[in-house]
Amino acid sequence: EADELQSRIEAVRKHFGDRLLILGHHYQQDEVIEHSDLRGDSYQLSERAASSTACETIVFCGVHFMAETADILANRPQKLAEREGRRITVTLPDMAAGCSMADMAGIRQVEAAWADMSEVIDTERVIPVTYINSAASLKAFCGRHGGIVCTSSNAQAVLEWAFERGDRVFFFPDQHLGRNTALKMGIEESEMPVWDPYQLELGGNSDEAIEHSRVILWKGHCSVHQMFRAEHVAGFRKQYPGIKILVHPECPREVNDLADVSGSTGKIIQTVRNSPAGTKWAIGTELHLVNRLKAEHPEQEIHFLSPVVCMCATMYRIDLPHLCWTLENLRDGVVVNKIEVEEETSKWSLIALERMLAVK
Ligand code: 13P
Ligand code: SF4
Repeated sequence: EADELQSRIEAVRKHFGDRLLILGHHYQQDEVIEHSDLRGDSYQLSERAASSTACETIVFCGVHFMAETADILANRPQKLAEREGRRITVTLPDMAAGCSMADMAGIRQVEAAWADMSEVIDTERVIPVTYINSAASLKAFCGRHGGIVCTSSNAQAVLEWAFERGDRVFFFPDQHLGRNTALKMGIEESEMPVWDPYQLELGGNSDEAIEHSRVILWKGHCSVHQMFRAEHVAGFRKQYPGIKILVHPECPREVNDLADVSGSTGKIIQTVRNSPAGTKWAIGTELHLVNRLKAEHPEQEIHFLSPVVCMCATMYRIDLPHLCWTLENLRDGVVVNKIEVEEETSKWSLIALERMLAVK
C-alpha cells in the first residue's frame, strides 16, 4: 500500500512541477521526507518560505507553527506586490500536527505575565524573544513590543541583538533553549528566574527574582527532548570510551552542559557529515532524525542517547495517507487544511520574523 501511495504522490508532484513546493522538517518520517523539495531545520525552512516566488502552493510536512510562519513570510506585502497580489496557499497535511511546547504559552498568559511584570520592572527595557516554536499570536506580541523571534540555530545572535536594545529578555516558550543559550553568554542561572503562568494565578512568581533577572524564562519545554538525562550521557561515556555526545539545545541544562556539541537539527546533521569514519556518537534529538543519520552514515557508530523512545508524536502525524490526500485534493482543485494567519497577527509577526532574518 505504501508503494501505491508513493506513486500517487509522485504523480501529483509531476502534475504540478514547480507550482508546488513541499517543505519537510528533519523530524519527518523517511517515507514522507523523501517527497520534499527541501528538507531543513526551522531556520532553513523559514528562509526558503521567505524566498518562494515561483510556486502556487506550499505543502508543509512539519508542524502547525512552521506552516503559519511559511504563510506569513511567503505572503508578506513585498512578495505579494512582486506577484501582483497572488497569494501562495500554505497547507498542513494533518491539522493535528501541533507542537506541545508551542501550546505551553498562550497569548493571554503571556500578556498577563507582561502586565504583572510591569508592576515590578520597566517593561520598556525588556525585550521579548519568542522561540519560533510558538503560535503566530506570540510572534505578533514580540513584533508589537520591540521583540524578535529566534530558532535554535540563531538563539545566541538573537539574544545579543536583544541585549543591545534592552536590559533584560523575556524568553518563551522553551526554558531550556533560553537557559542553555544565556549560560553560553555568561549569564548565571541565578539571573534567570522561571516564570510559571500557573503559579502566577496562585501569586507565586517572586518580585525579587524578577527585579534581579537578566533573562526571564517561560516554564515551557519540549516533551521529546526533556526525556534525555545526564545519566544517559554518563552511561554512554562509561560503556564507550571516546564517544561524543551531540544534542539539541531543547535538552535540559544537565544534558546540554555534558555534551560535546549542541545545536539545531541542521547543525547536528552537519556535525555528523563532517566527522571521520569510526567516530562514535550518542545523539539526543528526535528518533527519526537519529535513525536516518544511522542509515546514512554506516562508516560511523551512532547511538540514540536515551534508552526509551523519544519521538515527536505530532511530527509523526504527517504520514503518507495524509500527504497523498492533501495533494490529490489540490490536483482536484480543493484546498484542504489551509493555514492562513489573520491579517493583523500576520503583520506584527512579520516584524519580529524580519528582525530575526536580518540578524546575522
Ligand atoms: P530545529 O530544526 O530548528 O533545530 O528545531 C527542532 C524542533 O524541535 C522543531 O520543532
Ligand atoms: Fe514541538 Fe518538541 Fe515536537 Fe519540536 S520535537 S515539534 S519542539 S514537541
